[in-house]
Amino acid sequence: MNPIIAPSVLSADLARLPEQVEAALAGGAEWMHVDVMDGHFVPNLTFGAPIIRAIRRITDCPIDVHLMVERPEQYIEDYAAAGANLFTFHPEATVHVQRHLATVRAQGMLAGLALNPSTPLALIEEVVADLDLVLVMSVNPGFGGQSYLPAATDKIRRVRALLDARRSGARLEVDGGITPETIVQAHAAGADTFVAGTAVFGASDIGAAVRELHRSCLARA
Ligand code: DX5
Ligand code: ZN
Repeated sequence: MNPIIAPSVLSADLARLPEQVEAALAGGAEWMHVDVMDGHFVPNLTFGAPIIRAIRRITDCPIDVHLMVERPEQYIEDYAAAGANLFTFHPEATVHVQRHLATVRAQGMLAGLALNPSTPLALIEEVVADLDLVLVMSVNPGFGGQSYLPAATDKIRRVRALLDARRSGARLEVDGGITPETIVQAHAAGADTFVAGTAVFGASDIGAAVRELHRSCLARA
């Protein structure tokens, strides 16, 4: 699968959102990643449907929404209407995971589950057929700018093996501490989709930062 870079707008300057999103897209970013936090599931509070609508007015690119919230199912219809294309949540945050994945698809979005560093693969094993994406967290979610946890690399390898064994076409995304260095090991382990906040929006040249991430993937492909 072709590598996809999904810059996280959590690290963008919201006062300059349109120009920063456009710079990332001009640099070759394929998706925009939106980190929704509720102050309960993670110790931080961010944004929701209004920012999805705002990004949708700027671009037609896929909007990849990552919900770090309790009871994510309450937002499925709202976010679909706001223009989200991918809806990824954490299985610990709700009860009827399979039903919610099916509802996400019924609303016309792609369905994803995210695994925290301490969450075992067992939480996705029964629903692989319901998944369009698996997100391996390479930091404990809540904040941008943290360092990649090395244990994530082996977990990516195990998720890759699980998806291949089930003949799943789901994308394997990694999120947290992705840089031109760490992306190499995540890609080699089988990830194909890379969230990057600080490495993209913290750079003085946003487009060049995206190009550098793509180059790092291709150099060791
Ligand atoms: C972490 C979020 C990430 C974060 C990544 O809670 O899910 O998407 O924005 O930021 P960096 O790339 O700075 O680690
Ligand atoms: Zn995220």
